[in-house]
Amino acid sequence: MPRFFAMTSRGLGEVLEQELHEMGITKTERAFGGVQFEGNWADCYRVNLRSRIATRVLLPILDFPAYKPEDLYNNILKHDFTKYIKPTGTIAVEASVRESGVFRDQRFVAMKIKDAVVDQFRDKYEVRPDVDAANPDLRIVARAVNNGFSIAIDTSGDALFKRGYRVGFSEAHVKEHLAAGILKMAGYTGDRPVVDPMCGSGTFLIEACLIALKVYPGTLRKGFGFQKLLGFQREAWEAEVDAALEGELDELPFKMYGYDVDKDALKTAKMNAQKAGVDEWIEFSRAPMETLKAPVESGLMVVDPPYGERMGDKDLLLDTYKDLAHTMKVGFNGWDCYVLSGSPELSAAMKLKAERKFPLYHGPIECRLLKYKMF
Ligand SMILES: C[S@@+](CC[C@H](N)C(=O)[O-])C[C@H]1O[C@@H](n2cnc3c(N)ncnc32)[C@H](O)[C@@H]1O
Repeated sequence: MPRFFAMTSRGLGEVLEQELHEMGITKTERAFGGVQFEGNWADCYRVNLRSRIATRVLLPILDFPAYKPEDLYNNILKHDFTKYIKPTGTIAVEASVRESGVFRDQRFVAMKIKDAVVDQFRDKYEVRPDVDAANPDLRIVARAVNNGFSIAIDTSGDALFKRGYRVGFSEAHVKEHLAAGILKMAGYTGDRPVVDPMCGSGTFLIEACLIALKVYPGTLRKGFGFQKLLGFQREAWEAEVDAALEGELDELPFKMYGYDVDKDALKTAKMNAQKAGVDEWIEFSRAPMETLKAPVESGLMVVDPPYGERMGDKDLLLDTYKDLAHTMKVGFNGWDCYVLSGSPELSAAMKLKAERKFPLYHGPIECRLLKYKMF
């Protein structure tokens, strides 16, 4: 049975593993950067289709040490790449190299791997695949730390957080898989309204709607990498799609609520929600969070306030965090509130004791997801 690797951001491994278990995938193991799982190709299709938290699903194929370019070339030759695509297909190699004395240039590593792969095709068919960096039929992912190389086939194609609904960006938005992971950490199962008082492009609310409507994110996408590989099992894939669509709901018994002071951000949020097909379930309003009151009796608040590293000036933001704490205390009594904070100094200004703190990474920024129970 193949072993796959579902990648995600640091801090989301535990909720990704839970998600895999919910999909019926039981043989899992957490590792740096994601979760390994054992399964057949139908399981791989299911994870690509259903996962809200994974960023890619890889099929690891080779691990080896290489001390010079020829070692890299010769080790790549040990695996038969001609079984994945036709010789007239296209390939791309994505390489990342860390702490390696010999292999400092990742473009060189990618080129050496590409040479070994296309030479296999040329020797067998006298025809070699072309390179297409943007939209290849076969994407090979190489990671090297020191002299240890790991080579994998990417089964996802575009990263899985690219659901297809983001038509516009607001400054410092959270990626879709991070928003979904945070909602899962908050225990959200689609059972209640979600409020985001500083909603930007609306990511938390759109992901909350998809969860509540039982819409799996992959059903919004145009396609996946595995569909281009030889050996793609069309019937197994169609069965996965049918099963995923079967449980979708047509309506929700409640709404989600998004607020922001920036009218352009709200415009983007509305466009994104419309593209995701969930706009009728989200009420977006232009309002300052300082005077906000809960729009319904109970629910979940999730918020990603601006923080110094990417938006605004830290000194000016101290007041924003104090005001957010006041709004949570006065306007959201009885609510669970989750705040994604990229700055301990700013969250300290809230002067509230967090019930739990989850370490997370928002891109390169180390963050904490802080849980507050408001009484
Ligand atoms: C980090 S962004 C939120 C990004 C959002 N989570 C997304 O995925 O797009 C912070 C947002 O807070 C908004 N904001 C700043 N001060 C505000 C205030 N006093 N009241 C309401 N919104 C505010 C900004 O306009 C910005 O859109």
